[in-house]
Amino acid sequence: MVSWFSKSIVALTIRMPKWFVGWVSRRYVAGPSLNDAVKIMNRLSKENACFTVDVLGEEITSLEEAQFFLDEYLAVIEAIRENNLDANLSIKPTAFGLLIDEKQGMKNIETLVRMANEQDLFVRLDMEDYRVTTATIQVVLDLHKQGLTNVGTVLQGRLFRTLDDINHLEMELGPAADYRICKGIYLESEDIAFTSYQDIVDSTNACIDRMLEAGSYCSIASHDIPVIEYAKSALESHGMGPNIPDPRPNAAPLRNAKGPGYEFQMLLGVRGPLRRKLAKNGHRTRVYVPYGEKWYEYSIRRLQENPTLGTQYAKAFLMPWTNRP
Ligand code: FDA
Repeated sequence: MVSWFSKSIVALTIRMPKWFVGWVSRRYVAGPSLNDAVKIMNRLSKENACFTVDVLGEEITSLEEAQFFLDEYLAVIEAIRENNLDANLSIKPTAFGLLIDEKQGMKNIETLVRMANEQDLFVRLDMEDYRVTTATIQVVLDLHKQGLTNVGTVLQGRLFRTLDDINHLEMELGPAADYRICKGIYLESEDIAFTSYQDIVDSTNACIDRMLEAGSYCSIASHDIPVIEYAKSALESHGMGPNIPDPRPNAAPLRNAKGPGYEFQMLLGVRGPLRRKLAKNGHRTRVYVPYGEKWYEYSIRRLQENPTLGTQYAKAFLMPWTNRP
């Protein structure tokens, strides 16, 4: 349920001038240029964070636009190498054309994953709304079949289908499946998704359990204490933890620039103290760093897709002690 308060904040924000939206989103978006993202990563490296870089933009309207993303991500790969950053890439499959022409979208993604592979970099396919869930998973399966194992997907705890997706990916890829598990930002219909807070948390936690049992790499992407605490105890029950080589007999070999079978991930600007505490306790923590010229469209779209963010933004600004960057 989205409260009237959240809806009002969203309605108000999208009517505000661009500079105001920019002022609010400054905390969550590195800036318009790659250089801004590099600066933030250099700063947060001192907090023992590693990164995943997202070029803002999604769902293109013509296939030509996909070239922009290919070029920009190529520049990101170069910047990661030049600046010796501990970072990988996050991409939105629809920005590569997956919803316009699945075959061509897949080809575009393959081009990027190959370029990243040459530099030993991992590519995470962000999960967008239900229209592309199956196609996104299929891209990962097809790329692994071609020997490109430096790619993994995101799964969303709120979707009913997610446990079946994990079982399917386990059957196809074995422990080479590499996930980011999150609650899911898109407020999907109750025909396909859990809608109450507790059901979403329980389902997300059940997915973490399945991923760990399957020997997969599990990136826990949440700022929610019940999910993080659950993940920590699930890891412990598998004998996993900071600086312990992954003891699961069915685990895939350790990959370059990854944690011991798991890591925690958080968004730029959200719950920094919690992230720093996890890092201080030795957990690998990755910050999602979005940047790009399309910061305005991105910020507005996120608010429209998930009006509960309105309350979170307001809380972060009005009660800063609850959520520092
Ligand atoms: P919850 O929403 O309950 O938040 C817990 C607390 O964290 C809030 O009370 C608030 O204090 C703080 N908080 C969380 N989000 C905030 C925000 N945006 N601004 C301010 N405060 C905030 N989703 C998806 O569908 N596909 C994807 O590919 C990804 N990728 C992704 C990567 C990473 C690294 C993260 C951390 C998250 C995603 N997500 C995502 C988003 C995810 O699905 C989910 O919507 C958000 O993480 C919020 O859920 P939490 O588990 O943090 O809990």
